[in-house]
Amino acid sequence: MLKGKDIINTTQFSLQELDLIMNTAANFEKRVKDGEVIKNMEGQVVAALFFEPSTRTRLSFETAVNRLGARVITVASAASSSAAKGESLADTIRTVDGYVDVIIMRHPMKGSAQIAADNAVHPFINAGDGSGQHPTQALLDIYTIRKEKGALSGHTVTFVGDLKNGRTVHSLGYFMALYGNKMIFVSPKALQMPEEITADLRNRGAEIEETDNLKKALSVSDIVYVTRIQRERFENPAEYEKLKGSYIVNRALIDQAKKGITILHPLPRVDEISTDVDDYEGAAYFRQAHNGLYVRMALLALITGRA
Ligand code: NCD
Repeated sequence: MLKGKDIINTTQFSLQELDLIMNTAANFEKRVKDGEVIKNMEGQVVAALFFEPSTRTRLSFETAVNRLGARVITVASAASSSAAKGESLADTIRTVDGYVDVIIMRHPMKGSAQIAADNAVHPFINAGDGSGQHPTQALLDIYTIRKEKGALSGHTVTFVGDLKNGRTVHSLGYFMALYGNKMIFVSPKALQMPEEITADLRNRGAEIEETDNLKKALSVSDIVYVTRIQRERFENPAEYEKLKGSYIVNRALIDQAKKGITILHPLPRVDEISTDVDDYEGAAYFRQAHNGLYVRMALLALITGRA
């Protein structure tokens, strides 16, 4: 069903494909935890091109490749590739495409993922295109919700933070809509979810509320998805200074939230979740980061036809 496909954004998936990815990921999780030596992708080579900083996405993808028995070549910064010499993205991709079986890329420009995919014969995975989309993060987010909550529908989900620039919420919003969840968007006025996305989600039948009152939103939420103010997307540093710290989730706030609330965050966090929340049992963000490995193994195996 997914063999040979590019992974560009979360609007591309059917419920059936998502089921397949979730089940394949669960299977890989079991096999890894059982200590199995997995060889599904033996003999293949994967390129990980990261033209923007990354810890979890790059390292979990590289681990996924290694755990599948394939090999990985990496560009870990724009400065170390010919992008620094002025090479176009299209030319870089056409070159790398001749070396490997799959290309994974993170790039600062929104829309770069589609350009790259159009220039590659092999399957391409978007690991974040500027403030655009981050589909593999959203896949691991729903894998985490399924594990933590037992179901992917019937929830009220609050998204808080930088909803304007945060690609993770742009991606996850579509999955939450697809599964029929209610969404509450909480942000400073200047960092609201782009109108085109909110309108698109509503067109797809999503129930959405927008507010600046986090405490009230949390009192009715089953899940809160906290995000970092995306400093690298601000043209004016003073504007960032003004908006950082707008919303801080601390233990006192969680103690007043709906009982059993699950706290997610794509990480890295700066100060938007206080460390006193970390030992709350619904604080799932490190489990969420770990789930990325299994979901990325599943995706790689499925698009190469090796699942
Ligand atoms: C996110 C990203 O890069 O968009 N990080 C990640 O991949 N887990 C979130 C962020 O950087 O704030």
